Order: sequence, then structure tokens, then C-alpha cells
Amino acid sequence: MKINFIDLKAQYLEYQQEIDSEVLEVFASAQFIGGEKLNRLENSLAAYTGSKFAIGCSSGTDALLLSLMALDIGVGDEVITTPFTFIATAEVIAFLGAKAVFVDIDEATYNIDTTQIEDAITERTKAIMPVSLYGQCADMDAINEIAKKHSLPVIEDACQSFGATYNGKKSCNLSTIGCTSFFPSKPLGAYGDGGAIFTNDEEIATKIRMLLNHGQNERYKHKYIGINGRLDAVQAAILNVKLKHFDKEVQARDEIGSRYNDMLEDADVITPTVTEGNSSVFAQYSIRVKDREAMIEKLSAKEIPTAVHYPVPLHLQEAFANLGYNKGDFPVSEKVSTQIMSLPMSPYLTEIQQDFIIETIKG
Ligand SMILES: Cc1ncc(COP(=O)(O)O)c(C=O)c1O
Repeated sequence: MKINFIDLKAQYLEYQQEIDSEVLEVFASAQFIGGEKLNRLENSLAAYTGSKFAIGCSSGTDALLLSLMALDIGVGDEVITTPFTFIATAEVIAFLGAKAVFVDIDEATYNIDTTQIEDAITERTKAIMPVSLYGQCADMDAINEIAKKHSLPVIEDACQSFGATYNGKKSCNLSTIGCTSFFPSKPLGAYGDGGAIFTNDEEIATKIRMLLNHGQNERYKHKYIGINGRLDAVQAAILNVKLKHFDKEVQARDEIGSRYNDMLEDADVITPTVTEGNSSVFAQYSIRVKDREAMIEKLSAKEIPTAVHYPVPLHLQEAFANLGYNKGDFPVSEKVSTQIMSLPMSPYLTEIQQDFIIETIKG
């Protein structure tokens, strides 16, 4: 049985007419940067999340980078985040000359352990950057409360959680700034790189709009040192189509995730916990197993694709050796990174395919 880890082809076939027609309109208009498609997308993204401002940008990485730049974070500053995430989260902190200060994760949700955040705050701390991993929001109320007490901004790395809800509110609109990714395999994916930044703060929004366009406030007048961080019109056109159908896909993801959870209940694996008040978009459906190599091999023998998000926590990556962390510093992240593995997940995974995966795991 042919099973894709993420079925982007099936999705394209479903929306092909709409996508082709929107993209051809961009070609015919010759407006490839900015323009009506991007404006429409930004308005729809703001409405979807309930944020005052949504700004399209070139990737999730750049969304995080631009957010830190907007908050003037740089050399000598510290930003608190977790080591159990994709490298981009901490990479942008280091890129600006600031220091990533890691806090371990909660073993049930894999998101930052909020009980350990305050111990990591120093007078150099300039922001808290929780990650809403695998599609479930971090405990943003607890994080916002700590941030408020210490007058710190919060940037939600929502690159995996666009569409998730937390106590009735949408991910990306839960803190000072929210950042998401439209990498093709994300729940809302473009056909290339893309991302978006969300905020309710007009000053931040205005600054980010300048920063992603070389710091320009007027053509060839540069107020800041910025970057080329724009989202192009072709990606915006594709995302406009996909966003229209997104709620239906989120619903399908929820059903498939819940079905995995129910059917794997009696298997010798740890299934994801979605805590009360949260809904997950299951950007990854990740389970924990005792012998990961054996499980991957068993599934691979039946041509079932898997992935590991993430095998090495960031504090043990060579690129972060200068931070001076050691093995044993973040025991939960280290344990989870040896056990975690992701199963095929997309709104197009059929029950027959899912049954086959589950039977193979249990077999
Ligand atoms: C948690 C997290 N942060 C940041 C990123 C970076 O997003 P992008 O690949 O769009 O730059 C990703 C994407 O994989 C991610 O999963």
C-alpha cells in the first residue's frame, strides 16, 4: 500500500482548478511582489487569527528573525526558549548575537515547562520564545503571566501550530508577536517558502513591515537595517486558496489524530497528549516508543514512511557548543529525543491507510 508521509499531491489535485487559476492571474498581472493577492491574504490571516495585524514574510525563520529585530534584540541579550525544537527557533537568536537560554520541556506536551521559566530569567533576558510544538500551543497563559511580571515580550513560535486553538483563541494571537511558517509540509503550506507575523501592536507591525523590506519607510529611504523578507504574490495566491479550505483540513487532522490516539491506546507506545483547552493541528503526529530503530524498521519494511522530530536537542548540537551546555542539562528533552518518532499525517490519510499503519505498529 502506497502511503505518503504528507500527501501534498492529493491536496493539489483537490484544489487544482482554483490554484491554477489564482496563479495564472498573478502571471497575467505581472505583479509578482506585493499587490492584491498579498493584501487579501494578510487581511484573511488577520481575520482568521483575530489579530489586528498579519504580515506575510519569506519564511518562518525570517518571521522569528524579524520579530527579534523589531524588539531590538542583539548582542548581550538573552532569549528564553526550549532545546526541543527545530533549529530555526534558537538559530535566529544566535544570528543576532544574542544568547539562547534553554528551559526544558514538559514531558506530556513537549512544550516549554512553564514551572522552570522564572529560574532562567536574568537582567539580560529580553524575551520569552515558547514553541507550540507538533501543532499544540504552549501554555501561553502561564507564560504571559510570567512575562508580564518581568515586563518581557513573548514571541510564540507558531511555525507548527497555525490553526490550533488555546482556550478558545487562535495560535499566533496569544502573545506580543506570533510567527508561523508556510513551508509546504506545514498544516497551511505554500508551494515554496513563506511565513507570517501576527501582532496587535501597531508600532511593532509598522516596524516589521519596514524591516522585511530593507528597513525602508519610503522608496530608497532606509530607517533601519533590514532584510529582504517579503512573501511573493505567487505564494500568496496559493495560500488564499488553501486558507479557504483550511478549516475543513484542520477538522480532518483532528479526526485522524484522535483516531490514531484511540486505536493506539492498547499499543506499547506513548501517544500525544492534547491538554484541556487546547486543540492540536497535528503538524506532526508523534509517538514515543522504547526501541525506535526497531519500530522504524518494522514500518519501513511495510513501506510506511516515518520521521524523527527531533533526534538531537539543540543544546547538544555542535552549532551551539559555545553556549556551554552539557549532556544531562535538559533530561526531558534528551529522553524524548531518543524515543520520539512521527507517523504519516495529512488530511488525506485514509482510514484504510491508517488501519494498516496501526496494525503494523501493533504487530
Ligand atoms: C518550530 C519551528 N520553528 C521555525 C521553523 C522555521 O520555519 P521555515 O522553515 O518556514 O523557515 C520551523 C519549520 O520547520 C519549525 O518547525
